Parts: sequence; C-alpha cells; structure tokens
Amino acid sequence: MSKVLVIGAFGQLGSELTTALRNIHGGENVVAADIRDPQGDLSDGPFEKLDVLNEKDLGRVVDRHGIQQIYHLAAILSAKGESNPKFAWQLNMDSLINVLELAKEKRLEKIYWPSSIAAFGPNTPKENTPQNTVMDPNTIYGISKLAGERWCEYYFEKYGVDVRSLRYPGLIGYKAKPGGGTTDYAVDIFYKAIETGRYECFLRPDTYLPMMYMDDAIKATIDLVEADPGRVKVRSSYNVSALSFSPAEIVDEIKKHLPAFSATYAPDFRQEIADSWPNSVDDRAAREDWGWRHDYDLAKMTDTILAGLGELLNA
Ligand code: SER
Repeated sequence: MSKVLVIGAFGQLGSELTTALRNIHGGENVVAADIRDPQGDLSDGPFEKLDVLNEKDLGRVVDRHGIQQIYHLAAILSAKGESNPKFAWQLNMDSLINVLELAKEKRLEKIYWPSSIAAFGPNTPKENTPQNTVMDPNTIYGISKLAGERWCEYYFEKYGVDVRSLRYPGLIGYKAKPGGGTTDYAVDIFYKAIETGRYECFLRPDTYLPMMYMDDAIKATIDLVEADPGRVKVRSSYNVSALSFSPAEIVDEIKKHLPAFSATYAPDFRQEIADSWPNSVDDRAAREDWGWRHDYDLAKMTDTILAGLGELLNA
C-alpha cells in the first residue's frame, strides 16, 4: 500500500478527501498535514503540523513517513487572495514548486494538485468552455492556478513527475466549510436555509457558475489519481463538470424542501470575479480519457445536503 500525504487536510476538500483516502489505503497509511492546529478526532490516522512553504520540513515529513504520493491542496482562494495578492501568489506558487521539486528529487510515485475554473478569464468562451482555449484569469488565485498548470506539465515533460490535476468547479459539501472563495455562497446558503430561513447572497440571482457536489469531486480526484498513466493524456489540468446553476435556481430548489426560505441579493466585489468565470465547462476529455462521470444533479445534491446538514446541526 502506498503511503500518502494530504497537505491542507483540514480544508473543505482536504477533510473529506483524507477520510476517503483512509478508507482506501488504511488510516495509518494516510498522513494528514495542515498548518492549522489539530482539529477533530485524529485517532484514525497520523497528523503532521506543516507549513508547506518550509521545504526542509516538507522533506522531513516525507522521509519520516516514507511518503510516495502527495495530494497538495493548500491554497488561498479567489476572494481572499485579492486582499493580499503577493502572499496568495507566494503561498499558491512556492508551495507547488516545493512539492514538485521534492517529487523529482525523491522520485515520488504521484502528485495530485487542484486547478480551478478560476484559471479561465473574461475572454474565455463562457458556455461549454473547452479544455484548450483562451485563458486570461484576472484574480491572483486564477493567475496562480494557470501558472501552476504550466509548472505541472513542465515537471511531467522534463522530469517525468507523474502529476495529475483537475480544474474543479465550485465544490459544494456540508461537512467542512470553505473559506475565501467566490463559489462559497452555494455552501453558506444551505447553512442559512436551515439555521435562519433567510440568506443574503453576494452574487446576482442570474449568475451561472459550474459547480460539483463534494462526493463527485472526491470520486473524480481518486479516479484520476488511480487511472492507468497511459490514460492521463492531459498533464496540465482536466476540465471536470457536473452541474451549472444560478443563485435563483438553488433558492428554488431549496424552497421545494423549505417553502418559507427566502433570499435577498447584495452583489459585492465577488460578482466581478464570478462574471469572469465560465457558466459551464466541456469535460469530454476527462470523460473519454479516464471515464469520468458525475452522480449528483441539483435535486439529488440539495436533498442530500439538507438531510445531512439538518442532522449535523441538530447533533
Ligand atoms: N471555489 C473556488 C473559489 O471560489 C474556485 O476554485 O475561489
């Protein structure tokens, strides 16, 4: 069994991915690492407090646990990145280069690193955005994701590092909250629907964005990482798609379960970010190359989240 390191293990994606990987590889084989202090019950596997910008510490963790695969998820997201662009660039970029360099030196088996729809920009075709197209991101987060994609492909081509990546849409889960993203409204709205019955949305009601339920995101990630190397033909980052909806549509869907729920709209600076991203993406390459398919549509996701979050908040 390969030894796996998850960097950013307490984040929205990291917390659920770490659990999924521990179910596959065995708890003792998946090391959770985060810059934050230990959270929750860690008894199902090892934990390392780690600042991924410190390459020596990163190397020591890899050596100490005999790590062969790294999922590097730590990043500053789109909205938060705008408040300190230089630091967002430093964290998002230098951490990736540290991981890639280590993978090259220590001949690690595999690296996974997420890109995002944020790598696209205002001149990218908005509907069914192709795998290969104009990319002119105008947030520092998006710029770091586009540059990161180029670094990943570079390390694959020049040094044979087996690095794999997905351009995630907005990820919607209820077990851990996201922080600092533009698509976060689609998580917060469920909390507010249950807790107060009201939500003020920071995007206009007609703003379409590509989205994905967390279980699908976990499945896509693990399917890509487990795919036979010959099937992974894109070494920058794959488009992956599941849903596309607007705030008005998700409000209507929630109202089917909670008829008294109401939303108001007060667009802020995040509107401009959302407007620069695709409405929907074409993920044929992922579907054809390694068999990606999603399971959750808007109705199934809403059902699942309201039931699960209702239980969680009651507990
Ligand atoms: N969910 C991210 C954000 O909104 C995009 O990848 O920043």
